[in-house]
Amino acid sequence: MQYTKCWLDWKEIPEEQKRECYYRPVLLACGPVAETAGEEYCISMGEMLGQEITLLEKADGGSPAVFLEVDAAVETDAGDEALARQAFAIREEGDDIRITGRSEEALLQGVFAFARMVSLAQLDEKLPFVCTPSMPLRMMDHWDDMDGSIERGYSGRSFFYDNYEIFYNERTEMYVRLMASIGVNAIVINNVNVHENETYLITDRYLGQVKKYADLFARYGIRLFMCVNFAAPMQLGNLPVSDPLDPDVIAWWNETVKHVYEVIPQFGGFLVKADSEGRPGPITYGRTQADGANMLARALAPYGGILLWRCFVYNCRQDWRDYKTDRARAAYDHFMGLDGEFDDNVILQIKNGPMDFQVREPVSPLFGGLKKTNMMIEFQIAQEYTGQQIDLCYLIPMWKEILSFDTYACGEGTTVEEVVSGRSYAQTNCGVAAVINTGDDENWTGNDLAGANLYGFGRLAMDPSLTAEEIASEWCRLNFPQSDEVAGVVVPMLMGSWATYENYSSPLGIGWMVYPPTHYGPDVDGFEYDRWGTYHRSDLHGIGVDRTEAGTGYVNQYNEPWRSVYANMETCPEELLLFFHHVPYTYVLKTGKTLIQHIYDTHFAGVEEVEEMQRQWDSLEGKIPDRAFRCVKERFERQLANAVEWRDRINTYFYRKCGIGDEKGRKIY
Ligand code: GCU
Repeated sequence: MQYTKCWLDWKEIPEEQKRECYYRPVLLACGPVAETAGEEYCISMGEMLGQEITLLEKADGGSPAVFLEVDAAVETDAGDEALARQAFAIREEGDDIRITGRSEEALLQGVFAFARMVSLAQLDEKLPFVCTPSMPLRMMDHWDDMDGSIERGYSGRSFFYDNYEIFYNERTEMYVRLMASIGVNAIVINNVNVHENETYLITDRYLGQVKKYADLFARYGIRLFMCVNFAAPMQLGNLPVSDPLDPDVIAWWNETVKHVYEVIPQFGGFLVKADSEGRPGPITYGRTQADGANMLARALAPYGGILLWRCFVYNCRQDWRDYKTDRARAAYDHFMGLDGEFDDNVILQIKNGPMDFQVREPVSPLFGGLKKTNMMIEFQIAQEYTGQQIDLCYLIPMWKEILSFDTYACGEGTTVEEVVSGRSYAQTNCGVAAVINTGDDENWTGNDLAGANLYGFGRLAMDPSLTAEEIASEWCRLNFPQSDEVAGVVVPMLMGSWATYENYSSPLGIGWMVYPPTHYGPDVDGFEYDRWGTYHRSDLHGIGVDRTEAGTGYVNQYNEPWRSVYANMETCPEELLLFFHHVPYTYVLKTGKTLIQHIYDTHFAGVEEVEEMQRQWDSLEGKIPDRAFRCVKERFERQLANAVEWRDRINTYFYRKCGIGDEKGRKIY
């Protein structure tokens, strides 16, 4: 089994940076996670010092040492105890260094942070370093199925399952170390679409093996979660219904959950996709989403379990002729009226935008709407609609933009980050989740450069004040040989890649236009006359969806000033223009270009930018490991072909619709 160590591939540091204390780690805390912290210290520092390092039980006669300890006195600005327990500090004391966590889990985070700073030669600049993670929950959602496939997986097959068996091997351990090292503290091990066999994960058919994962995760301070099938009482319990208010259904879940906790006492809880894309849910029984969520939450509550309920509920049998029904409205329409009705251990998991992880979407209006409900934002690290880990698309700049979006829910400054970190409404069950992009490919993520999104998600969840560039630079220097030359090529390449992908794919926030079976590559009308509620509404005059009061009324789901800003074509941010408005091809944008000329220009530019990235990448030959070099080179070749196809299809399609030629006379077919 071959796999890389990604950002945990510690390299030996220069002699002059090797401090005496590094060689003598003293573990002053006990417990399983503290032991892991000690192990990780020895692994990372051993590799960086170029010799084996062992833990000491006590300081040896005044020689400088690094102390690993747990102390509840670590300073923190966390409002609640659960988050406070995640705080850690790294300090110098004379020639000693103290890595102190308020809990064992926090100590482990301290050790990873320390190793990173040593590797990046940042210690002098960063100490003393005190950190309370921004997001209480930092969760990875796997869309792995037990047959070994991964829904929307672009990096090979599952390393959790094959042929309905659960693996447990060295790779699983490496995976958990990678996750812990970036601050992940919750992992959902199966797909939200819970099929027949996966329904049995909560039964004795699999619980024994799941427990092995849960125990492994626990040693790294990570809680294990599972997705459940809302109809499990029917499938597994032979009940005639799965009505959340039915006493037999309630009793069945209570018993089932009790047993799960007997086997796995540290079990985290359930994630549920209900009433969505054919999945069963409470609507079948005339019950609300709150009825469904609370029923499961109450079964979990006695054991401290959490229930994550997805808000991805919409009508996927829409009629394209219907201009009033708007998929973008659906989450808000379903959940706003239920604000305050969810139990304390329920968290609503809300996709970042109102549609479905497109290259550009407005922020979901639910973040500015709900005030009495725990919320978690869901991102997609897997690049389903953003190039599928063939095309390069560094997503951290997008996520940062979203987290810093001001919802105005409680006046100015109520950013999405404030809301989902729990600070706006003093909530503790909240945070960030993301659909992971890993598989059993040697490099874990298909394209080596897609590792930056995985790494970056964790880093951003710990500290959203990091810039996208800082994260890119950290990742590049930890993942590749440390070199300014390599970083000088890779970091700008990552930073520009989202804009490039957006340039050659669907324009100005309209989204979709992808080939329906795979969601990769262009097919402008692929979804246009279909049932999914994903239309661009182009005609000979213009393009875009009218979501103003006169159209679907979606704009009214936002607080002011956004409602007015979006409603007016002149003030609407142009990158979202076609999401909110049906715009004539001759409309003049702020750049002075017409809409149609903008489409042509961006699509020609997108292809040129990919060609430039290829040239840049080629300059790294021999400077990074050959395997990674060749992998990315091959991906860029495929990206270029994809970008060309997008450019020509989009430009040709709109040229044929409107009949207006390119001002620069470039080739349109
Ligand atoms: C998208 C994706 C599906 C997934 C769904 C979800 O629609 O294409 O594969 O199941 O999102 O988030 O539930």
